[in-house]
Amino acid sequence: MVHSVISGHGAYLPSKVVTNKDLEASVETSDEWIVERTGIKQRHIAASNEFSSDLAFHAAKDALSNAKLSADDIDLIVVATTTPDNTFPSTATRVQHLLGMTKGAAFDVQAVCAGFIYALATADKFIRCGDAKHVLVIGAETLSRIVDWKDRGTCILFGDGAGALVLSASQDTSRGILSTHLHSDGSTREILFVNGGAGTEAGFSGKIHMQGKDVFKHAVAKLSDTTLESLNKNKLSVADVDWVVPHQANIRIMEAMAKRLDLPMEKVVTTVAHHANTSAASIPLALHTAASAGKLKKGQLVSLQAIGGGLAWGSCLARW
Ligand code: UT7
Repeated sequence: MVHSVISGHGAYLPSKVVTNKDLEASVETSDEWIVERTGIKQRHIAASNEFSSDLAFHAAKDALSNAKLSADDIDLIVVATTTPDNTFPSTATRVQHLLGMTKGAAFDVQAVCAGFIYALATADKFIRCGDAKHVLVIGAETLSRIVDWKDRGTCILFGDGAGALVLSASQDTSRGILSTHLHSDGSTREILFVNGGAGTEAGFSGKIHMQGKDVFKHAVAKLSDTTLESLNKNKLSVADVDWVVPHQANIRIMEAMAKRLDLPMEKVVTTVAHHANTSAASIPLALHTAASAGKLKKGQLVSLQAIGGGLAWGSCLARW
């Protein structure tokens, strides 16, 4: 049975770092408040000439090098992004061009902060059905462009960045993706949305609006429920999990989820302090950080879960 193994990982962060202290100059906030309520200490912000495709390209090159593959080996590129370079063409086709690829297919998926799980699920299905051998799965965001920098309730939360995985077809059952689980509920739109975008009545690109407390409650419940869903599907339990790599929105969400699952925080990979919330890029960035630090060992059970606007959420269980 052919399934997907993770054969490479990569990441890219823009060089400009904005600390909490820096934000104190533009909104009424404090480093203490931000650290206590979110765990965030800093975020990376893209330069004015850097777009999601540029961030994605660098992360993709890093992942290809890690996988010891070249762009010619890739059959498909799936980019998860809420901040595409343009309304069309897709950011994925721009990445395809930057990589010098003239074959294969490339498209974007949009599920906001859950985007990487949606992209991973899509890529996994292409591999399982035999339509692709090597797939680049990328999460790339320049959320700084849709943040209202005058709204202290949201501007302190987000950052820019990109992460990428290479998924490869394999028959090695000791590794790879075991299952993916996707959900959405359009009735919850009002608690997290952008009030504009191309082709909308608003006539401008819009900014992020969020009811933080409501999103927080949904996040803790839905992230833990979908984690259990993935474990039940594979007849495994929380005790079997070696690493949990959640969407990096808020350290308190991750702590509450771990408590609900009766999971020690030592098993939770957290990068939110340094990257903030990079939406679709946060999971591959965290995976790359943990893998590069030598934490993730071959065959270990890794649980990924994310939630974002929609609401859309989901999980993935994999052996590294
Ligand atoms: O990727 C998925 C998308 N987003 C999320 O997952 C975010 C989920 N929500 C959260 O992480 C939290 O709700 C926040 C971090 C956004 C807010 O934390 P909170 O503990 O829910 O605070 P709050 O919104 O209830 O605000 C508490 C107080 C308020 O003042 P009053 O009404 O008590 O006087 C806010 O006005 O903190 C005030 N406040 C701030 N103070 C300093 C809100 N933002 C700030 C700020 N600095 N940046």
